[in-house]
Amino acid sequence: MSIHTSLCDLFGIEHPVLLAPMAGVSGGALAAAVSRAGGLGLVGGGYGDADWLAREFDAAGDARIGVGLITWSLARQPHLLDLVLERAPAALMLSFGDFQPFLPKVRDGQTKLIVQVQTLDQARKAIEAGVDAIVAQGTEAGGHGGARATFPFVPAVVDIAKEIPVIAAGGIADGRGLAAALALGASGVLCGTRFFASDESLASDNAKQAALNGGGDDTERSSVFDLARGLDWPADWNIRTMRNSFTRRWSEDVGGLRQNIAEEQARFEAARAVDDTDIAPVIVGEAADLIQVIEPAQETLHGMIVQAEHHLRRISRLVEPNGKEQRR
Ligand SMILES: Cc1cc2nc3c(=O)[nH]c(=O)nc-3n(C[C@H](O)[C@H](O)[C@H](O)COP(=O)(O)O)c2cc1C
Repeated sequence: MSIHTSLCDLFGIEHPVLLAPMAGVSGGALAAAVSRAGGLGLVGGGYGDADWLAREFDAAGDARIGVGLITWSLARQPHLLDLVLERAPAALMLSFGDFQPFLPKVRDGQTKLIVQVQTLDQARKAIEAGVDAIVAQGTEAGGHGGARATFPFVPAVVDIAKEIPVIAAGGIADGRGLAAALALGASGVLCGTRFFASDESLASDNAKQAALNGGGDDTERSSVFDLARGLDWPADWNIRTMRNSFTRRWSEDVGGLRQNIAEEQARFEAARAVDDTDIAPVIVGEAADLIQVIEPAQETLHGMIVQAEHHLRRISRLVEPNGKEQRR
């Protein structure tokens, strides 16, 4: 048995699993590891740094990878699109903002366009534009995101997406999540948090350890780290991270943080410089519960496929050929 969906055909991949383009965390080595294991790795271009992107594309060697960029940030430096498309990535994933201005240029080449959405309205716009695939991201996700939960959001997007493959994201970190996503009608999954804690991830060892030790209950969405980093994110999105002393101090008093911003930014930058995760963010989602070990990404991906196959077989045994459900 193998799990083959329209997403496998779209990208010419063996397994319907994508590595999320985690800004500064999904580098070339991690993206290549996921692609070589049969999924598709997306380098996390984030806010867009030409030197970083060039280095990480090079680090991926001859592996077939894709790349993700933050749309509102790309709008401020649109020349980065040419730089990225010159590398002929298998896919470009755009998230958080209006992707329409970039559509014609992407369409000119071989690169497939994936758009990540957090609301049905955003999903409708992506469908009308005829993008190649849509990531329906639930609020459980690590990093920036919106308010909808993965479980009801994914099938709602599937219902309107027609032939466009829908990729589920947010809280999916093992084969059970993959099997559930397929049951919801998704054609595959996009995983960030689980690969954050992989050998090849560019997250620091401290941050990986914090992700391993912590769990979903220890995460929350807030805007405090964006303020501390001086990033003027649109109000539609905030960021899920582990709680730490910085969120405990400020997430209920964002006004106070704004008033003390110069001092707090200095404290924050000092903590980042020494990788103090009690102040600097550990950017993971609710799926932190499911991180049991830090291992090579290939092992995670293979484990996920084997477990998903097991659960899909188990579930299909619950239904008798005549359609009657068997008691467990
Ligand atoms: C550390 C980290 C950084 C992220 N950075 C980005 C990013 O730059 N662009 C983006 O589209 N999504 C980003 N995301 C969100 C992912 O694309 C994806 O939606 C999310 O990881 C899926 O949920 P999961 O973390 O539960 O697997 C990030 C996620 C994490 C954990």
